Parts: sequence; C-alpha cells; structure tokens
Amino acid sequence: MPDNFPLLPEQASTVAPSVDALFWTWVAISAFSALLIGIAIFYFFVRYQRRQTDEIGHQDHGSTALELTWTAIPLVIVLAMFVWGTRVFFDQSRPPADAVEYLATGKQWMWKFQHPSGKREINELHVPIHQPIRLTMISEDVIHSLFVPAFRVKADVLPGRYTTVWFEATKTGEYHIFCAEYCGTEHSLMGGTVYVMEQEDYEAWLAKAPGAVGGQVATGEELFTRFACNTCHFAGPRARGPNLEGAFGTVVKLADGSSVEVDEDYVRESILNPKAKVVSGFEPLMPTFQGQVTEDQLLQLIQYVKSLSGSQTAAAPGDHSGADGSAQTQGAAPASPTTGG
Ligand code: CUA
Repeated sequence: MPDNFPLLPEQASTVAPSVDALFWTWVAISAFSALLIGIAIFYFFVRYQRRQTDEIGHQDHGSTALELTWTAIPLVIVLAMFVWGTRVFFDQSRPPADAVEYLATGKQWMWKFQHPSGKREINELHVPIHQPIRLTMISEDVIHSLFVPAFRVKADVLPGRYTTVWFEATKTGEYHIFCAEYCGTEHSLMGGTVYVMEQEDYEAWLAKAPGAVGGQVATGEELFTRFACNTCHFAGPRARGPNLEGAFGTVVKLADGSSVEVDEDYVRESILNPKAKVVSGFEPLMPTFQGQVTEDQLLQLIQYVKSLSGSQTAAAPGDHSGADGSAQTQGAAPASPTTGG
C-alpha cells in the first residue's frame, strides 16, 4: 500500500504495516462474503421466481453436507483471523523490554508529556526514530484516549489508573495526536503533534530545549525528600515503612495475609490511600498525600521508586543530574492554568 493512499493515514511505526495487513484482509474477506451472498440472492431471485400464480415451490428439508460446509469454512476463516488478530494485538500491547519510558498526563483539554530526561512538553512530543517508546499515562480528570493514527496506537487514559501504549517510529515527520474519547466541550481541540526526529536531532533538540534539566528519577528523588518519605522508608529495623530498595516489581505480603505486586498502581494507591494495602509487619501510620501531590509528581515518585529496583528507565540519558537540576525542572515546568493538586 503506498504511503499516500488516501484511505488510511501513513504508516510511521513498526506495528502499522501489520495492523493494516490485518485490516485489509478483513476488508477483503468481508467484501468477498458480501459479494457471494449478493450474487446468491440475485441468482435465487431470478432462478426461483414464481412463474404462474398457482405455482407451488418444491419443498426441501435441507442438506447436511451443505450446512456442514457453510459452517466449517467460515469457522476456519474466523479462527485463523482470530489467531492473527491476537498476535497483532499482543505485539501492539506489549512494549519491548528495551522501550524507554515517557510519561503522559491527560487533562481537560491538553496532553502533557515528560521525557526520561525530565523535559516537559504540552501538546507536543518529540521522539527519536527507531527507538521503542513506552508511554505511561494517567488522567487528571475524566477519561481521555490517546490516539496516534500514523502509529496505529490508541489507548484510553483513565483517572486513577495507569495505562500504557508503546510505539517505535519508523519515519521522521510530524504526526497528529487525537483525543479519541469524548471528554467535554473542547474534546475536539484536544490534540497535539508527535515529532519524530533522527537520534542526533533529538539529542540536539533536548540539549537546547529550555528546562531540559534534572530527570524523572531526580525529580522523584527530590519529591521523596520534600514529602519526607525518606524519614520512614529506609533500610533497617527502625524503619516505620517498608524499605523501597529493590521493592518495585516484587510481590509483598500484606497485613491481612493477602499479597500484592508492587507496580505503578500499587505505589500510587499507597501514596494516596496508604491504609488500603499495608505491608505485613508495619503499622498503618502513613498519612495520605491525597490533594498534596499532583499526577505528574506521582509519576515522578514512581519513577524514583522504580529506579531503586534498577529499572532500565533509571539509566536513560540525562537522568540523575542532581538536586539542582531537579529543582530547576520544577521551576521551569510550563505554566498551566489549572494544575490539579
Ligand atoms: Cu480528552 Cu477527548
């Protein structure tokens, strides 16, 4: 399919060709079936029309062979399409292990992005080509949906729960971001642009872009101290909260005997509603940080907690540039009229 084929947006990600192949195969199967049924209807209409007013048709009580045929053939086709579709779906929904994590926050009516280096953008996302990128997304208010047609990716962005989407751009250029979930009066204006750049261009852009200091992890570390998390969460018998070194990605036992995996959602819940799932052996002493910490800050804190477990995000270029840098990141954050929290 040529890139400028007007029916579909251009293919600019690794998954786009497989999504389109699946789509066009479905179109072909549907068109073929519709044609087959249409021709059959027309043929029967001509062949079996009543010729005299007193004509009575021949009564036929069916054919087992015919019924088996028209059941078995479509069954094989739809099962094959199911297997194919599932493969494409898994490809699209499982980020590769080497994907670099970017953060996205949706709010009425804008998209906010944050690079691993800490650089923030609104309604614009600059990314390097041929680099798998994973977006961890959350909403500050209602349900939004991030949709980049050229990448063939779309995922709901929900309040209170992290969702992810990943893509690897294969072509430099500018690609439109839509919000694909009706989210209020300015839903149709909630959009943006992904700029896919060559690796060198991206690095040059990042280096000269204002506010490109600190990093998700460095900022999270600074918040960890600012909210005094470090006064309870440390190693040793006197700690009042669980030690977070190496905790992310593990399964912990809770006070009520059940267990939970330490993932993004659990860390977020534990900051906002600490008494919900208290780790076994600890008192429910931690106060809630609901209303004191923004969604962006929650994401940064999570990045910091992840980095304590050696998550690959921690090794992204530009991270750990120190406390000075992270303080500047805070100051240089783009002004937004109604930042929550
Ligand atoms: Cu956000 Cu529609």
